[in-house]
Amino acid sequence: MINNNHSNKIDEIDEIDKIEKIDEIDENNNKKDNLIENIDKNNKNSYNFSNINITDNDYQNIDIVEEGNVKIAFPCFDKVSSSAPVFYNPKMELNRDLSILALQTFQKEIDREINICDLFGGSGIRGIRYKKEINSVGAIGINDISSNAMNWGKYNAQENNVKVDFFQKEANIFLRENRGLFDVIDIDPFGTPSFFLDSACYTIKKDGMLCVTATDTSALCGTYKEPCIRKYNALPYKSEYCHETGIRILAGFVALTLAKYKKYMEIKFAHSSEHYMRMYLKINKGSAATDNSIKENIGHITHCPKCLYRNTVKGLSSAIDITCPICGYKMKIAGPLWIGSIENKEFINKMLIELDNKQLNTKDEILKLLTTIYEESESPITFYDIHKISKNIKTNAPKQDKVFEAIKDKGYTATKTHFNLLGIKTDVDIESLKEIVIDIIKNES
Ligand SMILES: C[S@@+](CC[C@H](N)C(=O)[O-])C[C@H]1O[C@@H](n2cnc3c(N)ncnc32)[C@H](O)[C@@H]1O
Ligand SMILES: [Zn+2]
Repeated sequence: MINNNHSNKIDEIDEIDKIEKIDEIDENNNKKDNLIENIDKNNKNSYNFSNINITDNDYQNIDIVEEGNVKIAFPCFDKVSSSAPVFYNPKMELNRDLSILALQTFQKEIDREINICDLFGGSGIRGIRYKKEINSVGAIGINDISSNAMNWGKYNAQENNVKVDFFQKEANIFLRENRGLFDVIDIDPFGTPSFFLDSACYTIKKDGMLCVTATDTSALCGTYKEPCIRKYNALPYKSEYCHETGIRILAGFVALTLAKYKKYMEIKFAHSSEHYMRMYLKINKGSAATDNSIKENIGHITHCPKCLYRNTVKGLSSAIDITCPICGYKMKIAGPLWIGSIENKEFINKMLIELDNKQLNTKDEILKLLTTIYEESESPITFYDIHKISKNIKTNAPKQDKVFEAIKDKGYTATKTHFNLLGIKTDVDIESLKEIVIDIIKNES
């Protein structure tokens, strides 16, 4: 006898396959034609350079900055904020410089010309720099919803002698209309990227790269719990390693969003700097590999606020024991989040090599940051803060170097972390670490 449930399931699978086939045909059709022709077809109101709309009056009151190989102009403003006529944040120069290195490294790894979408263009600085400073870049589409941004972006592209295309669309609409056209989608919004991730995950190509910035660190780090639940569907926890937890929550959310489209990711490079978090994700496709990636990389972190013990639990919905195995206290939970690797040592090494080839104002800062991240790239999840441990066991804090030395003498690993200057990433358990701290203090007195 034919099992009806079974045949319904097959129908359902057929239906999903049909939709995906149509999607794939769309993607391939887009690939065949010229990229810019395609973008133009999809975006009737794309701009060309003949209609820059900046008046003499506008030129009276402008700032000009030099970053990398470009000079960028925009109307003066008092304070960096979303209400500036055109957004430019000097603190993001490091972010843009690192993007140049990461995208050049990615381009060399895939060894072909790359088309890039700068989804939130602002003054145009990012897209213009990508075209000017990265080798083997094909088309660049710079999008922004603001007409002021359009005008200054076009002006800046022209002044820097760079051929890029401008689009004035709501970001989600731009992405949905241009599926499969870009090898790189760069998401650098005000605050959270959450509202744009579904469209980006739908649109990004297999073998592409998604670059994501988040500046809503107070949500991701757990200062405000509810916004994190609303935007990232995850529980944050404000601990000494909350910036790492925050990056992992953001990564977990992207991975689960990609999974809807049978896509999965490898994190090539991620960092938390100043007021933001940023990650570079290599995207791949396939249902079995996606299922496996979710199984392996999504989980939770449990943390005991009383004795500072922490643990990682694999799985989206595994049973989580919240009784601390050391002191019996009720532990806190953060997640679901990404428990897999957040750094790729080889990729970071290539970025370091690329640093010699580029003219970047933040070179020294980058060298320091990338070297630290290179060293911590294969360390365990979370880290300890010696001051926090010393307070917990009511002793003075020993010098950090001595703690590193003592941990290594006992045969464990210990590295610094870019997340926190006072942090130690190590495979030593919390009780042994407390003993190490006590011994050092005893020997000092
Ligand atoms: C943080 S700024 C971008 C900064 C730029 N990437 C840089 O590196 O200087 C965010 C930009 O997004 C634009 N924007 C805000 N909401 C948008 C939306 N829904 N769709 C498209 N653009 C949007 C704003 O006009 C603003 O220029
Ligand atoms: Zn405990």
